Amino acid sequence: MTDKGEKTAVRGLEGVIASETRIGMVDGVNGKLYYAGYEIDELAEQVSFEEVVFLLWHDRLPAEKELLAFRDQLVREMTLPPALQDWFRRIPADLHPMVVLRSAVSDLALFDPEAADNSAAATQRKAIRLVAKIPTIIAGIHRMRQGLDLPAPDLSQGIAFNFLRMFLGSDPSPYDAETMDLVLVLHADHGFNASTFSARVTASTLADIYGAVTSAIATLQGPLHGGANQRVMEMLTEIGDSGDVADYIDGLLAQGKRIMGFGHRVYKVQDPRARHLRKRAGQVCREDEGCTYFKMSETIEEKTLQEKGIYPNVDFYSATVQHALGIPVAYYTTVFAVSRIAGWSAHVMEQLADNRLIRPRAQFTGKYPRKFTPRSQRPEGGEK
Ligand code: SDX
Repeated sequence: MTDKGEKTAVRGLEGVIASETRIGMVDGVNGKLYYAGYEIDELAEQVSFEEVVFLLWHDRLPAEKELLAFRDQLVREMTLPPALQDWFRRIPADLHPMVVLRSAVSDLALFDPEAADNSAAATQRKAIRLVAKIPTIIAGIHRMRQGLDLPAPDLSQGIAFNFLRMFLGSDPSPYDAETMDLVLVLHADHGFNASTFSARVTASTLADIYGAVTSAIATLQGPLHGGANQRVMEMLTEIGDSGDVADYIDGLLAQGKRIMGFGHRVYKVQDPRARHLRKRAGQVCREDEGCTYFKMSETIEEKTLQEKGIYPNVDFYSATVQHALGIPVAYYTTVFAVSRIAGWSAHVMEQLADNRLIRPRAQFTGKYPRKFTPRSQRPEGGEK
């Protein structure tokens, strides 16, 4: 606030409370994350991704029978319109998977007769289609690019198992399916992160959920947000070639560069999700290369804490875990989207249920009013 009582702009809306929510809470001081009031440390390795989707949408954990019915409803929707599958075959093979995902989600609206219906019931049905079809779209991109067919989902399994089955072309081991499920649980929601806020801004104009999720996917791709996990693996690969972690990190810091996978706008202590991913990364690094990356990651964590006093965020060890699951680097951020559609859709439903157009103010810093000069009277060099 200036001394004239004018409000001053808050860069990046840092610390600004934009709205209320009952969906998730990020406690940056104590390093805790809550999904609808349940602490992530209690949920991780205890619940399935489908349970988390249900919890974020309905503000309660499902009974066993409800969960099975919900999972069945989701997995039966894991098919794609044939026209979309044909489209995959025609897109340039060098497009980033997140760019293709953004377009494909936008195109899903073309095949959904309820696309423009913002009623709570229709939005929930569309949310089910999105949670179910986003993993299939990503698997479809990967399989079509290799000239391979897209396997059908196994209706007796859940989203995590079927994503790996369709993406890799064969059934995952129970442990890999459980690891993917943990990755999806840990990435599902995180307060008003940039992509979720994008979804809410779009929904607040009463645009439909397909538009809101398209906004969110475009936002997630940025390296300061979900795009960081891909850059973490690129950094590990680069260090692997050079061999010296300390030198590499010192070099980045000396250039004032950000170390991908570290730091957070809200967490000022350890991101609780990183703790679970670090543990799993240590468990899943099977073949030597995976363990090299994990050991390198631990050295980077120690060095960065010592030099900058900052901690890994969700993206840092996610890279090593995804590597161990056989996911190609270019798809790491799409895996983030497979999970975050749970939070995005919950926030769109919450926004639509008690909507207020999101429209902040700007502080104009230019000169005004300026005197207009007709073109014929402007000096050679243009008006000053
Ligand atoms: C996600 O919002 C969410 O909840 C996001 C997310 C979710 O679940 O939705 O948690 C997922 O997006 C995690 C973040 C992934 N991004 C990265 O890993 C990219 C690298 N991180 C940084 O760019 C940064 O930490 C941000 C973007 C995450 C947060 O940035 P801020 O809050 O704007 O902090 P800042 O850039 O102003 O840095 C504050 C200080 C600076 O020191 P000074 O220069 O002022 O002395 O901390 C330093 C920075 O130099 N710092 C880093 C750093 N992050 C902060 N220094 C080196 N490497 C880093 N990664």
